[in-house]
Amino acid sequence: MKLTQRPRRNRKSEALRQMVAETELRVSQLVLPLFLCEGKGQMQAIASMPGIFRQSPDMILQEVGKAVELGVKSFDLFPALPESKKDQTGTESLNPNGLLPTTLRMIRDKYPDVTLITDVALDPYSSDGHDGVVRNGVIVNDETVEILAKMCLVHAQNGADIVSPSDMMDGRVGAIREALDSAGFIDTGILSYSVKYASSFYGPFREALDSAPKFGDKKTYQMDFRNSREALREIDLDVAEGADIVMVKPALSYLDIIAKVKAHTNIPVAAYNVSGEYGLIKLGAKHGLIDETRAMVETLYSMRRAGADVIFTYFALPMAEWLRKNT
Ligand code: PBG
Repeated sequence: MKLTQRPRRNRKSEALRQMVAETELRVSQLVLPLFLCEGKGQMQAIASMPGIFRQSPDMILQEVGKAVELGVKSFDLFPALPESKKDQTGTESLNPNGLLPTTLRMIRDKYPDVTLITDVALDPYSSDGHDGVVRNGVIVNDETVEILAKMCLVHAQNGADIVSPSDMMDGRVGAIREALDSAGFIDTGILSYSVKYASSFYGPFREALDSAPKFGDKKTYQMDFRNSREALREIDLDVAEGADIVMVKPALSYLDIIAKVKAHTNIPVAAYNVSGEYGLIKLGAKHGLIDETRAMVETLYSMRRAGADVIFTYFALPMAEWLRKNT
């Protein structure tokens, strides 16, 4: 054949492919979610998330130490509470000596330079398993926002660098910014789960926190997966209300949304590689369907290629190891 263009020429060798590769992934772009539980020496396996554990604060400190050694320096904290500490308005979420604030202080003490992000929503604290307060079967917006703003203050006071509302209530970013600023926390950031879809891919996470909704679903607050223009509306609102970083969640079925959001906004865009995405790869690999490492690398790079600046992933440690060896 007489061809002028032969794209294969640029794929000829590993060195050449490295030279022309378009997308980079740095370990500093990875955020490791951590599941906290009460007690000492606790490391509870989560069946649908092999390799991920609920850990008591002492074990979490070790985990953070291990991560820091690999270059992972950003963490997102989720508390798993016993049913006895849950109620309708999530009272425990405002306890400054609760599991999350206590763990924050411990990590901050030992690792002053890491970035600590806290998840802000009522579901780990709610006896209804919803992200907001339920009144007559309705997840009420404004009352929830008031509690979330107070929760953010507790997190900021105990060492959070960034608070991260994942609840999808309207107006919460503005209310949180206002509450933080009035208390003098002008440097505490807000990473908003601006675009969070009502997704089947959160299943394993709800097992991890034992936080599945006790009735109904989350469709009156999380987004409909058929929509993408609505994502930009949510982004515009959160940016106007003071968000520092916006997030799209889940990641893999929403790479188009990540790309759109990236083109639309000038603030950093995060993607959450959620529990179901993690679990499917782990269990698929265990059953011999795919190669775990290659699937991990390919999917994480796809999120970067789509435009994610930051990636929340349960693969943060193995990916950090891979990056160390391969880049
Ligand atoms: C809830 C919350 C969820 C996740 C993070 N925060 C689940 C949900 O909305 O039901 C999901 C994370 C994951 O699946 O990895 N506030």
